[in-house]
Amino acid sequence: MRTILVTGGAGFIGSNFVLEWFSKADHAAVNLDRLTYAGNIQNLESVADDPRHVFVQGDIGDGALVAELLRRHRPQAIVHFAAESHVDRSILGPEDFVATNVTGTFRLLEAARGYWSDLSGSERESFRFLHVSTDEVYGSLGPHDAPFTESSPYAPNSPYAASKAASDHLARAYYHTYGLPVLTTNCSNNYGPYQFPEKLIPLMCLNALDGKPLPVYGDGANVRDWLYVGDHCEAIRAVLAHGRPGETYNIGGDSEKTNLEVVHTLCGILDELRPRPDSGKRAALITFVKDRPGHDRRYAIDAAKIRKELGWRPRMSFEEGLRHTVQWYLDNGPWLQAVQTGAYRQWIDQQYESARQAGGARP
Ligand code: NAD
Ligand code: TYD
Repeated sequence: MRTILVTGGAGFIGSNFVLEWFSKADHAAVNLDRLTYAGNIQNLESVADDPRHVFVQGDIGDGALVAELLRRHRPQAIVHFAAESHVDRSILGPEDFVATNVTGTFRLLEAARGYWSDLSGSERESFRFLHVSTDEVYGSLGPHDAPFTESSPYAPNSPYAASKAASDHLARAYYHTYGLPVLTTNCSNNYGPYQFPEKLIPLMCLNALDGKPLPVYGDGANVRDWLYVGDHCEAIRAVLAHGRPGETYNIGGDSEKTNLEVVHTLCGILDELRPRPDSGKRAALITFVKDRPGHDRRYAIDAAKIRKELGWRPRMSFEEGLRHTVQWYLDNGPWLQAVQTGAYRQWIDQQYESARQAGGARP
């Protein structure tokens, strides 16, 4: 049985990955997650009693804990998702991003290095440290620029992106300096089940269902390259199995959309699946609000390397993936209600009160 240590496996992408990991083969996983506001043990309900899943609530920055988990479970790989992941939160409070994404990743790499150094033979040969990162490390593209490749220069613009860039550099250095078999993936924006409703798609879905304004930052023409989370998880499995240590792989959906396009499509799907009692169109709720400071204009990924080397490509189209995602949120009302705690409502009030002050125009 193949055992891996997953960090951040109670978050959005991590929990999708863990659930799929068990469904694909007879695998085991130790899941280390601090359960911050973004971590949700409910995401893992279906594997709660599965003996192949060992959940540990703890911090990646706790070197002694990580060393002990590695010694006890002897995983063949570490798949590192744990991070502070929301750009707007990084603008209001960058410190947690440095603590987890930079220092936490550093401590995890140190623990991994200690463990791996003591391995021998095929165990040492096959060990992998997969660092999950973002395309935001490359900064912002102009409308006619070619998409990011693995050799695009790093130019992070938000504290989130800067902290992920720093962690990418540390991961790279551990390969070059110590020979730790590190793989790094830089992926575009994900969407799908279990995404915390602070990010664009679930936030808009939730507000639209509640008949609340849909706060679009700036002019709504910022572009993101959207990828269904299941496709991202499949890419990570491919890199883990066949990626070359020391290499980085860009992962993207080949699906560039402006934020306004995304919100309009989402509203159309909701109007169809859950018509409003007054038959009104949810797009009428779109409200332009103050722009995010340093808001990157466009992200786009050139995924030719992973396509050619590992034969990966996204399976889900944006339309299909979004419909599936909206249906998941409609079917999982109790999950949504549970994540809307007092802390969540406080965040929404804080974040959107200042944005509303400068906005209000309708398209
Ligand atoms: P998320 O915020 O939903 O989940 C992060 C998880 O990490 C949570 O379960 C949280 O409890 C846990 N965590 C946070 N700090 C921790 C710590 N110090 N120790 C242990 N656990 C801790 O994030 P996500 O959207 O699932 O993103 C996962 C990873 O993928 C991140 O590294 C992120 O940078 C990267 N990524 C995300 C996207 C995206 O669109 N969401 C795109 C590309 C890359
Ligand atoms: P987000 O989901 O926060 O991802 P990221 O900033 O990491 O790309 O935001 C996606 C896009 O949607 C981004 O251009 C910001 C925009 N956005 C809004 O217009 N309104 C919102 O309320 C949110 C959360 C995001």
